[in-house]
Amino acid sequence: MDVEEAIRTRRTVKAYEPLPVDRGTLGELLELARWAPNHNLTNPWRFRVVGPKALERLKGAAAEVAAAGAPRDADRGEVGRVAAAKLERAPTLVVVSSKRAGDIVQQEEDMHATACAAYNVLLGAHARGLAGYWRTPAVMRSQAGRNAVGLADDERFVGVLYLGRPRQTMDPPERRAVGDYATFLD
Ligand SMILES: Cc1cc2nc3c(=O)[nH]c(=O)nc-3n(C[C@H](O)[C@H](O)[C@H](O)COP(=O)(O)O)c2cc1C
Repeated sequence: MDVEEAIRTRRTVKAYEPLPVDRGTLGELLELARWAPNHNLTNPWRFRVVGPKALERLKGAAAEVAAAGAPRDADRGEVGRVAAAKLERAPTLVVVSSKRAGDIVQQEEDMHATACAAYNVLLGAHARGLAGYWRTPAVMRSQAGRNAVGLADDERFVGVLYLGRPRQTMDPPERRAVGDYATFLD
């Protein structure tokens, strides 16, 4: 698959086959990540492949956070179970974060570089017939969620990448026309 085709045809997929992405393939995808553009070559990206114990911790934290934020009249147990179940939609989860270092300019650039690295993983997965889903669940904005996957205080959460064999095909969401967002200056 050439790069333009990969960019155009990659889609966010939310339903997956149960088989986890094998370690070799994960290694290849995480190796692709480091080819992201990166000012000063700070290598700010961090990737954590979520294992079974970490997933249980994360689901527990997600249930807690969702239940705590639920409206008074809601069934909090059920709200918690739904939030936890959303973390089981894909067989493989990878938490992406960016290590904070340097001044504010460097930090901003490092976040951008980390987003590029995460996108490399999604594109590489797509090129291998896998699918991905970049998710930013509320649990990762909580200390409980951060603890569940061992994020240090100097790491900024970027996304949870869901990876696996797709069980659905998605139509491309509407994109704005180039003329709506690009300007040719004189
Ligand atoms: C930084 C970032 C965060 C995202 N977080 C979520 C999310 O929490 N939930 C979700 O359903 N999609 C999330 N997405 C995926 C977008 O919704 C998706 O990319 C968009 O609908 C376009 O679809 P496509 O990826 O198939 O082109 C996120 C994407 C990015 C780049």
